[in-house]
Amino acid sequence: MVLLFSHKVGFFITNFVSRSSNRFRLRNVVAKHKSSCWQYSVMASKIGGDGDVNVHDVSKRCYQVVVAATRDMGIGKDGKLPWKLPSDLKFFKELTSTTSDTRKKNAVLMGRKTWESIPLQFRPLPGRLNVVLTRSGRVETKLSEDVVLCASRASALELLASSRYCSAIENVFVIGGGQLLREALNAPECVAIHITEIEDHVDCDTFIPSIDMSLFRPWYTSPPTVENDIRHSFVTYVRMRDSQLEHPASGRTADICDASNFRSFDFLPKLILERHEEFVYLNLIQEIISSGKHKIERRGTDILSKFSSQMRFNLRKYFPLFTTGKELLWGEIVEELLWLVGGSAGAKVPPEMIGHTWGGREHLKREEDDSEVIFKFRHTQLCARYEGVHAEYKSQGFDKLLMVIDKINKRLDGALVILLVCDPSDPKVRECPPAYTFAQFYVEKGELSCHICWASADVGHGIPYYIASYALLTCLIAHVCGFVPGDLTAVLGEASVHEAHIKPLQEQLRRYPKPFPILRVNPRKKDIDSFVEADFELTN
Ligand SMILES: NC(=O)c1ccc[n+]([C@@H]2O[C@H](COP(=O)([O-])OP(=O)(O)OC[C@H]3O[C@@H](n4cnc5c(N)ncnc54)[C@H](OP(=O)(O)O)[C@@H]3O)[C@@H](O)[C@H]2O)c1
Repeated sequence: MVLLFSHKVGFFITNFVSRSSNRFRLRNVVAKHKSSCWQYSVMASKIGGDGDVNVHDVSKRCYQVVVAATRDMGIGKDGKLPWKLPSDLKFFKELTSTTSDTRKKNAVLMGRKTWESIPLQFRPLPGRLNVVLTRSGRVETKLSEDVVLCASRASALELLASSRYCSAIENVFVIGGGQLLREALNAPECVAIHITEIEDHVDCDTFIPSIDMSLFRPWYTSPPTVENDIRHSFVTYVRMRDSQLEHPASGRTADICDASNFRSFDFLPKLILERHEEFVYLNLIQEIISSGKHKIERRGTDILSKFSSQMRFNLRKYFPLFTTGKELLWGEIVEELLWLVGGSAGAKVPPEMIGHTWGGREHLKREEDDSEVIFKFRHTQLCARYEGVHAEYKSQGFDKLLMVIDKINKRLDGALVILLVCDPSDPKVRECPPAYTFAQFYVEKGELSCHICWASADVGHGIPYYIASYALLTCLIAHVCGFVPGDLTAVLGEASVHEAHIKPLQEQLRRYPKPFPILRVNPRKKDIDSFVEADFELTN
């Protein structure tokens, strides 16, 4: 309260909070969601001279970090930002100023030198509570209601968790600089990191530590953009589990906050929450259910359908295995893809494989005994005539996939590389075109992207498998050709929802996505025919 009248008095008060909390010994820490305010409740014990232990409940506010950093985590040079990126400043302002409740503000927490690096006419940062950390108390600032000085990170977080600020401040953002972030970036109270990743080399003299990837997972990453010759992307990481804090009493370590403690990731600002790429898929379901055209498809099933849509997935940091629907069987997705890309086109599907990816074995068998082989044939062979399951195709036509890999290997930026799934010279294709038409690959700046075109797709059951399967194919080809995966774009002709699936899909729409998993491909393998399931590791 007094803080708002005089920064000097404010400094005194927060300093006092800090000193007194230093006398407490940390006993146990639990993350919890208290009203709208993410806090840590710290059970601290003060040990008196007589050996008595008094237990106090000290709450600390959780926060999110916002920073721009180079690959080697450089953030500043000569007390300033070493780049001019208007889009980054715009993102920073939007993220730190916007609240979902218009009666609330956000707080920005910064080191004294960062405060002083803000041009006088722009400070305090408007519309936000500016919390400046200083041990010395030597801060150039005019009196203002929007500025609070604190003597430590802990005292600032305790102050922001107090009843005065907890309900008035929606989110707390730690915005730098180096000294503060060296202690704050991976600390247990940090629940998300919004980082503008600068991909080009820029000379810096202030550095922060790397993000601890055993604690954080990417939630969203934008495609890279170039501004003032600097390539950068906006990435958000969310905390999945807490660091192993040492338990002072026992000397043991304990997980204090794993993913199960977060009922969902709705602590993220709406602007970021809705950027999770699974929402592209969920929005398509929503659109078909609410405005799709009713039809009866050729097998007599009632469907809702929508013509012409597009979905885009960024493969650079995570793998688009959807998290809100029924469990996707990763082993089957890998096994089916390996069956499709490997060996002879006539190879039968192993009987233990009950596939989903390619429309389901049972469905294929209903149509024609060897239809699964035709399916594989269409994906792998070009200009060969289909002569049944047992025919030998190796000496006929071309292996499409090897042609694709050969073209990509030539490393021509922007080369047109197309995997045609249907061959128009095939009378069966002319009569009944397959749902999969073609996949186009594109190389740019060391990244391999894929654009797929499907004539029709069942959004509820098929799409999650198709996306995972083509994402895996793109990652696999990128891996064998020495590129990194870029984007996967899917263009759908007719996207449909079976009426029988509407209820479970509505249930699915009520769930929030979780961070996508991360794919690692065995770095020792490079021959496309040599991969086995164990060469693909999906973490998280
Ligand atoms: N790229 C980005 O996103 C970004 C963001 C912000 C800043 N920056 C850059 O980072 C550089 C500034 O960083 P810096 O490391 O030199 O300084 P800083 O972290 O901004 O400020 C350091 C000062 O803040 C106070 N302080 C820091 N941690 C504290 C704590 N835990 N408790 C109490 N006081 C604390 C101390 O002030 P006293 O000395 O008064 O005690 C300390 O000397 C500049 O180049 C700036 O442009 C970059």
